Amino acid sequence: MLFFKKKIKHIDTGDIDPSRVPQHVGIIMDGNGRWAKRRGMPRSVGHKAGVDTLERIADYCNAVGVKALTVYAFSTENWKRSAEEVGALMNLFYHYLTIIEEKFRNRNIKLRFSGDTAAFSDKLQKAIDHAVEVTSSGDGMILNVAMNYGGRDEIVRAARSAADAVSRGEITLEGIDEEYFGKLLYTANLPEVDLIIRPSGEQRLSNFLLWQAAYAEFWYSDICWPDFSEQDMKQAIIDYQNRSRRFGA
Ligand code: IPE
Ligand code: IPE
Ligand code: MG
Repeated sequence: MLFFKKKIKHIDTGDIDPSRVPQHVGIIMDGNGRWAKRRGMPRSVGHKAGVDTLERIADYCNAVGVKALTVYAFSTENWKRSAEEVGALMNLFYHYLTIIEEKFRNRNIKLRFSGDTAAFSDKLQKAIDHAVEVTSSGDGMILNVAMNYGGRDEIVRAARSAADAVSRGEITLEGIDEEYFGKLLYTANLPEVDLIIRPSGEQRLSNFLLWQAAYAEFWYSDICWPDFSEQDMKQAIIDYQNRSRRFGA
């Protein structure tokens, strides 16, 4: 008789205080290109490897109880890259989204997108809508993918919406406060961003979550995103839990 031992993926959450898990984590998924270059491979190979890392880290965050994970996948400035690289990224996004049902079958993660997605091709926009729809019943973490996202662009759009609401008489000028404005941003109704992670050695925001970063804790690492492990994520959360957050008080 044959016995099959089912492989159960063990998620090591030890040492994390479950009562103080960051509610909303932002990750600048950086270093894909350098990772590939060091291996003598094209940058697109690094981007592909980065998607695998995202799957692992999203599962980990979901397992430890993070409510929302916003990942920076493509900035409003990334259009400045070569047509070849932009094309490879668009193909990668599209390809992944077309297999989303299979990918998310055993995941309770809910997808959401932030950014000016209207700039993408029709087929990519349809794939985005489809991905949101097929994962909409997920009762786990929200995975918010920032694509053609820029923090300044987000704030300008919100300012325009607020001005429009005033001109229509829907709200008074005094009615526009931080709470109202926050609801005009892509992150409306998501928890406050508690922790922002940037791998690959760079220590800047590069236009990521400018408004939301107001009181977020930062965590940097030299590891390139494709090599970023669950252990690194765990370390970031533990370091976060050891910070003293005063919010100016
Ligand atoms: C991040 O990796 C992914 C995107 C910006 C799309 P990079 O492509 O910026 O990789 P590096 O920083 O050049 O190594
Ligand atoms: C930020 O990384 C954008 C993403 C990770 C999607 P970049 O690689 O584009 O940022 P800079 O150019 O190093 O500031
Ligand atoms: Mg980069």
